[in-house]
Amino acid sequence: MASNVVAHAGALIQQRVNGAAMQRGAAAAAAAAKSFQRCASASSSSSSAAAAAASSLPAEKVTEDESMHSLPRRLLMSTGPSNTHPRALAAMSTVQVGHMHEAFYPLLDDIKLRLQQVLHTSSPYTMAISGGGHSAMEAMVANMMEDGDKMVVCVNGIWGERIVEIGKRLGVEVLTARAPLGRSFSLDQIESVVSLHKPKALFMCHGESSTGVYQNLDGVKDVCAKHGALLMVDTVCTLGGVEFRPDESGVDVMYSGAQKCLSSVPGASPFFMSEKAMEALMSRKSLPRTYNYDLKELGNYWNWFGEGTRRYHHTPPIGSFYALREALDITVGEGMENVWERHREMTRMLWDGLDSLGLEPYVEREEDRLVTVNTIKIPEGIDWKRVCAHAMETRNLEIGGGLGPTVGKVWRIGIMGYNARPENVAMTLEAFKASLDAGRL
Ligand code: GLV
Repeated sequence: MASNVVAHAGALIQQRVNGAAMQRGAAAAAAAAKSFQRCASASSSSSSAAAAAASSLPAEKVTEDESMHSLPRRLLMSTGPSNTHPRALAAMSTVQVGHMHEAFYPLLDDIKLRLQQVLHTSSPYTMAISGGGHSAMEAMVANMMEDGDKMVVCVNGIWGERIVEIGKRLGVEVLTARAPLGRSFSLDQIESVVSLHKPKALFMCHGESSTGVYQNLDGVKDVCAKHGALLMVDTVCTLGGVEFRPDESGVDVMYSGAQKCLSSVPGASPFFMSEKAMEALMSRKSLPRTYNYDLKELGNYWNWFGEGTRRYHHTPPIGSFYALREALDITVGEGMENVWERHREMTRMLWDGLDSLGLEPYVEREEDRLVTVNTIKIPEGIDWKRVCAHAMETRNLEIGGGLGPTVGKVWRIGIMGYNARPENVAMTLEAFKASLDAGRL
């Protein structure tokens, strides 16, 4: 039976990869299927009772229903989800276990460890929050802030605005610093707003995906240290694509997303806290205004505090955890320096091609440009929606439109994780060339 599951998993993987990704995917899938085979035979030989129990499980195929099988195979070159690495997809269809089973705990420990490696951190406080990036955002604000606490939010796009909204709904005193769209914050601006308000926490977005702006964090930790503020950072579109070292940058809390540069599926969001953030959490006077994301409870489940027993809190998305573990393993296996360099290289290739098509970056200053989310000005006389639609209809290739304040102003191309490869960039450039003509008014 175990071998049926393996064969079926292998077949599923074969079905799920496509187009340019197909050959690479098939090779990775075959490797993943082999590794299932090894696991399956190891476990079946370890216990005949377990083998007997396993043999009572049906080896079902995915339904033939139209809703599943009509899902198109696309190259997702927008800002995420980007295409999932086949190994991460395959990991999801291995087997189900209970989230309170001893057998599941090493996987949680693995996620923690690999996140520490991705982040180059010595902090033990890493985990995956159940849910997408928004869940992790709320977890951060609800746990770090109490009613009436001051939080300074740097707003230069949609993600700062979201944190403002979340903070207000949670009873936080929200103060903002604003930079024009397409610009990052200077250290002087940060210093002046933090020294003025002396907040409990400062929020910054490492990569503002609505505008394609990168925020350099150099020096921010000194400002925060001087005024006793925690530094909270969004890395949803940068983690696994752009260098980020929270210990060196003095970051106290970070959340990210799994479905962008890490090439996993949405549903399990990387989360990090420093020792200083943990002290702030432990010295709260009130309970956090969230039950689902109470970090003391979650920390117990993730064995942050070495309490010896893990209490049931909620049922996490187990399949998304499998995928995230695999995706983190792939990222760490490539080597973080190599991963960052590959993203830089693919972005250079993208802009060389866009430049030759006469397209221009939306972000004026080179140092403000994100590597992972590339915003392209929509030229006069072009219908941007028609360009996106043409690429989708003719090539099954996703070119992203703007988001929030940039809708109608930019296209957005993601150079993210598994998708950040020369053949995908070449295909995107070719699609742009053809679709620009189709979009001419
Ligand atoms: C969402 O995260 C986006 O930037 O499109």
